[in-house]
Parts: sequence; C-alpha cells; structure tokens
Amino acid sequence: MELSRRTVIAGATAAGVAAATAGGTAHATGGRKPVKSLFGKLADGTKVHSWALENGGTRLKVLSYGGIVQSLEIPDRKGRYANVSLGFGTLEDYVANSPYFGALIGRYGNRIAKGRFTLDGKSHQVSVNDGDNSLHGGAQGFDKRVWNVAPFTKGSDVGLYLHYTSVDGEMGYPGTLRTKVTYTLTRQGDWRVDYEATTDKTTVVNLTSHVYWNLAGESSGTVYDHRLKIAASRYTPVDSGLIPTGKLAKVTGTPFDFRGTKAVGEDIRVAHRQLLYGKGFDHNWVLDKGITRKPEHVATLKDPSSGRTLKIATTEPGLQFYSGNFLDGTLVGTGGGIYRQGDALCLETQHFPDSPNQPSFPSTLLRPGQTYRTTTVHSFRS
Ligand code: BGC
Repeated sequence: MELSRRTVIAGATAAGVAAATAGGTAHATGGRKPVKSLFGKLADGTKVHSWALENGGTRLKVLSYGGIVQSLEIPDRKGRYANVSLGFGTLEDYVANSPYFGALIGRYGNRIAKGRFTLDGKSHQVSVNDGDNSLHGGAQGFDKRVWNVAPFTKGSDVGLYLHYTSVDGEMGYPGTLRTKVTYTLTRQGDWRVDYEATTDKTTVVNLTSHVYWNLAGESSGTVYDHRLKIAASRYTPVDSGLIPTGKLAKVTGTPFDFRGTKAVGEDIRVAHRQLLYGKGFDHNWVLDKGITRKPEHVATLKDPSSGRTLKIATTEPGLQFYSGNFLDGTLVGTGGGIYRQGDALCLETQHFPDSPNQPSFPSTLLRPGQTYRTTTVHSFRS
C-alpha cells in the first residue's frame, strides 16, 4: 500500500543538519547519523516518520508515532542479523490494533485500579481501557501520540530526542506534563533510554518502553527456550484483574524464582493461581537493588540457539515480565508471520503497578519544580 512505502527524505531540520555535520565522528566507530523517512499518514493527514539509526552493530528503527521501536536488529554469534522486536510493517496496523508493540508508555505504565486515585485530597478519574482498570495511560496513551523527534550525534553516540507535551486533564491526569525521552545507540551497540518529565500540577508518572523481545527473531516461534535471569527475591502478586494486592511475595519455591537462569517456559504451565490470573507471567518483580541513581544490571535474557543476549540495567525499582500471553494468533507481524501466545516477552522497567493506590509502594508522585528522571540500558551480546 502506498502509505506504508518508505520514501527517504533528507533530514531538513536544523538538528538534522547538525547531526549530519557531527555524523563523521560516530561514523568512524560504526555509527550512522539518523536517517528520516516517511512511514505513513494518520487519518487527519499528520505525517508519521521513521528514523533509522545504527551504531556498534545495532540497527534501530523508531517511529514518531508512539516513539515506537519498529525494528531492532542485532547479529547472532555468526554475525547474522535478525529483527528481535515484534511489530508491524504499516502505520495502519499500529493505529488499528497494536498491543503496544515497541511503544513508549505513559503517563502511567501498567494498571491503576478502576482508573482512580487521590492526590492531596482531590480524587481523579483517568481513562479506563482494560476491564474496570486503566492500562498504560488509558485509551489514548503516549503510545498513540505523535512525538516531536530530533536526531543528535554526541561523540561516538547517535540518537533521538523525543518530546511530547501532555496537556492538563489529558486522559484524566492532572497537570501539563512535558516529557522528553532520549534514545541513544552507543558505540558498543547499547540502546539507552533516558526519561524526563516535569509538571505544573501535582500528578503521577510511570514511563516505560513496551518492546516485545524474541532474540531468535520475530516470527520465529515462542520464546519458551529463552533463558531468563531476574535479580529479584520478591514480586507483587495480583488479583484476577491483574491489580497488585499490595503484598510483596517471596519468589522462593515458586515459578517466579528467576534468580538462577531458567527457561521462560520451564514453569509457565505450573498450576499456580498467579499464573492462571496472568495466563502466564504478567507480574512486577521487586528488584533487589531498589531505586538507584545509576542504572544497575537487573535482568539477562539469552536465546541459546542464536547466542543473542540482552542485558537490562535500570534505575527503576520494578520490572514487569510479561510473557506475551495475550498474543492470540490474530495479528500479522513485520515479517509476514502470525504472532501467537508466547512468541515474545516484554521486560518493562517501571515503578510498581497501581502505586497511586498503594501507600507502601515507592511513590510515583511528581510535583511542580521536580524533574522525573529514570534510565534503562539494553545491552546486546552474541
Ligand atoms: C501488561 C499486560 C498487557 C500488555 C498489553 C503488559 O505490560 O502487563 O497485562 O496485556 O502489556 O500488551
């Protein structure tokens, strides 16, 4: 279809020119200045662009719509590239029916019970879009917004600045939230994500990224053979609506113990009530390191067949491990294959779900004058 065809357009913005000028340095280490092309148009005519970046052996394509990682390619142990992130080939598919493939999530990653919370004595009702609850920012979250994207090169790094201003009251959330997300590809091929936000009224914020990983390549089957390690001794059990009960449960002796490396599929069929609620793993792990000023290593995912390995480091206290349970064979992905249950998994660094209603969880409050700042680094090896 005409809209989905990629037309390469030279970056015409001032930032684009600056990137082109500075591009030489990054080039020398394998970096390539971000290249902009038209990806499609929304129904109202708004243009959506795709940005292609490459550095240190990692190739990334990002859309201005939702800040979506449309494709992320890394080599296997023999140097063969595969796109390890689920997605679509056309904007129409993303708009019509995406379960947050590759998207930036805001204002609030994961669920808020009944979409309700109270701040400074005032109650708020945000958009409810998942049964009785609010999921990933509501019906029109940050994943469905067009972000302002500007490329940069800095030393041997290449990257994109993504800006989005969410107006006071959008999806029911108080305060105008100015959001800046920086995607950096380093000379080692790491994909680093820095999140920043400020507000003009007290509000809650919990930003994350929703890449669906399959290190054998999207459309290659399930990830049940992938080996996963999570540095967490506890997780937050949920009720049948996937809202945390407020307790922190020990992983010891349960399917939730990923402290030693374990295959994703090893315990996924154990008759544990929590796995019934989630139709598999769909829980927040309480990272042992807690909130840190610098990103610390918390999880490793490895596909033994290809040798591709993903390591995640974060400043955040929680990690949502979602084993792609709701993929049901109704979506055709980027490479033309059908996505089925377990064909990918998400590792979403975050504050805990429903924190605005859970006084014992780390706070997600953001007040005027404060700056929300978190960082997550994805490193790839093979
Ligand atoms: C949630 C799942 C949800 C999925 C949507 C995940 O972050 O934990 O419950 O179904 O996002 O694709």
